Amino acid sequence: MKTFKINIKNEIDEKVIDKAVEILKDGGVVAFPTETVYGLGADALNERAVDKIFKAKGRPQDNPLIVHVSSKNIKDYVEEVPDKARVLMDKFWPGPLTIILSKKDIIPNKTSANLNTVGVRMPDNIIARKIIEKLGRPVAAPSANISGRPSPTTYERCVEDLDGKVDMIIGYGESDVGIESTIIDYTDFPPAILRPGKITFEEIKILDDNVVFSNEGSQYIDNKKPKAPGMKYRHYAPKAPIILVLGEKSHKEKKINELISLYLKENKKIGVLGSTSLGRALKEIKKVTFLSLGEYNSEYNIARNLFENLRKFDDENMEIIIAEGYKEKGIYAAVMNRLKKAASYNIIEV
Ligand code: TXA
Ligand code: MG
Repeated sequence: MKTFKINIKNEIDEKVIDKAVEILKDGGVVAFPTETVYGLGADALNERAVDKIFKAKGRPQDNPLIVHVSSKNIKDYVEEVPDKARVLMDKFWPGPLTIILSKKDIIPNKTSANLNTVGVRMPDNIIARKIIEKLGRPVAAPSANISGRPSPTTYERCVEDLDGKVDMIIGYGESDVGIESTIIDYTDFPPAILRPGKITFEEIKILDDNVVFSNEGSQYIDNKKPKAPGMKYRHYAPKAPIILVLGEKSHKEKKINELISLYLKENKKIGVLGSTSLGRALKEIKKVTFLSLGEYNSEYNIARNLFENLRKFDDENMEIIIAEGYKEKGIYAAVMNRLKKAASYNIIEV
């Protein structure tokens, strides 16, 4: 398939938006920017179009898609919006929050992977919103990566994964947030955060005290059925295995230095991922590929740079990656959720 590729950088080009809308109307698939990560969209109400998303990504059929809307009026798509869910929508939409609700029949089974629920999100990115608005229909969109790879936060990474597999790819700068939306499930009580994101558990808890944090990670380990089906698959993973090191700062640094010595003896190409201060503590920094996520306390940068840096390790064919872990608070909880999965729970705590 020939992919129509266009990088509009920071310019809002109505002709490009019209072209995307035309393709979506015809049942095609388009990779487009959102504020979290790039998404791969199709008309959410058109099963045949949605099926093309699964094919292009190599996505398992039992993994439901998030439905993207351009307004808070979602009554055509969901049975009801509980009061507290409405409060969250009013506070955080448009933005990186997906709310799971009971779906109406108009949402096809293909989109919801046969669940009777649907995740709905109103993105904040101007291009995404214009496309949905002009189409006049909701857009189903997972992250625009090949299944299992880190989500793309740039045009170039979308092209790398999807060129030749989709109808159109639109570039519009780097994703602002860098990790996917927070997902909260309001179809059960207590409402549960199924995937942490930029909108944190702590922020949500202020508006709805009943909300709990459902750690899909541990559900995965316990072999329980995860609530968000996508959580059971290997995820965000670069090709090299990752070792995630947790603990107090000086202990972590000591352990990471020990691991580096060990793998240098085995002549491995070593990647190290962490904050700038970790870089300063590395004894053999010249013999490894160190990628910095940002200052230790710059949580937004750390989230924004995470996926791109994981992909850079692939570009350089690393054989082992050693990553610094963070305390699971605020946005670091979301970063750790991704890192633990990328590491397939290969964790050393010191
Ligand atoms: O920020 C985001 O959410 C991005 C951008 C493109 O909007 N999208 C995204 O979609 O991350 P995806 O498909 O890569 O991840 C969606 C996750 C999957 O783990 C899926 O299983 C879960 O959401 N999910 C979707 N619908 C669900 C539902 N009805 N019930 C439970 N989990 C659901
Ligand atoms: Mg994804």
